[in-house]
Amino acid sequence: MAKRISLTRYLVEQQRVDGLIPGQLRLLLEVVARACKSISHAVNKGALGGVLGSADSENVQGEMQKKLDIIANEVLIEANEWGGHLAGMASEEMDGIYVVPNRYPQGEYLLLFDPLDGSSNIDVNVSIGTIFSVLKMPEDDRGVDAGDFLQKGSQQVAAGYCVYGPQTTLVLTVGDGVAMFTLDREQGSFVLTQENVRIPADTKEFAINMSNMRHWDEPVKRYIDECLQGKEGPRGKDFNMRWIASMVADVHRIMTRGGIFMYPWDKREPNKPGKLRLLYEANPMGWLVEQAGGAATNGRQRILDIQPTQLHERVSVILGSKNEVDRVTSYHSTL
Ligand code: AHG
Ligand code: MN
Ligand code: MN
Repeated sequence: MAKRISLTRYLVEQQRVDGLIPGQLRLLLEVVARACKSISHAVNKGALGGVLGSADSENVQGEMQKKLDIIANEVLIEANEWGGHLAGMASEEMDGIYVVPNRYPQGEYLLLFDPLDGSSNIDVNVSIGTIFSVLKMPEDDRGVDAGDFLQKGSQQVAAGYCVYGPQTTLVLTVGDGVAMFTLDREQGSFVLTQENVRIPADTKEFAINMSNMRHWDEPVKRYIDECLQGKEGPRGKDFNMRWIASMVADVHRIMTRGGIFMYPWDKREPNKPGKLRLLYEANPMGWLVEQAGGAATNGRQRILDIQPTQLHERVSVILGSKNEVDRVTSYHSTL
């Protein structure tokens, strides 16, 4: 029988054999995985657990919160605050940062998360997920503040997501490629099911919310228009389209078989750079995609090179198969 490698063993080996991750980071990632397991249980209970529906509250970005947005946020905070590995946390669902209370030891890491991605899919039983990013506290910094979280994506020391779908799958990078772990519900542990994930450079599949087409910028219109022309058009091949409306699920498909995902700037709210959040969504996903051989830009710049100026900053996102992302990005400089 093939040897089963648990997430714990994988991380221990990354620490011990490869010296890639310090002990505190290993602990942090194990705690995040444990929190994702709890969220997965809550998601699976659905109506039986009373977790569906809205919470009658809004987050700082003016979005209605679902009960599960709040539950997932609490699970992540409660799991992570006492271990001594963190200085603070920031979340899509919290106005400001969460500083680890004085009664617990302070660690040197910062954890950022979108506790529940794809909120509009919760009640309709479609895949949703959790996205997370880990940064280090700047050196010689006394006392954590929001400015400490405003680091470029290239500074991340770990990033991942957990998709709650037909299977619960945790996808992780610590800067040494991408590994996938599937939750074994009987054993209660994540088991390594794919190492060295690679995204093919070419694809025939795109993901974008087509209902926004009339609001897009010219370069995005041109790219999609060329895809839609299929074999007879300049691309010379037919394209397929998918849009799950959960970034985790769309990115997971791209991790599995390639594709391009776009949530570009559009004219609906011209003053916002995009819909998705740089720190909780674009940076962790951008790094994972790059680690799997893909690319991630905002049309003009590599996502990971953007200097954040605000905690809840939004960004235009184009990521996935490298040759397609390069093409859309090049359209932005020629148009
Ligand atoms: P969240 O549920 O964390 O607010 O994120 C939803 C995001 C993303 O997951 C998805 O790709 C996109 O919003 C869907 O947006 P539309 O409903 O505009 O298609
Ligand atoms: Mn999200
Ligand atoms: Mn969310």
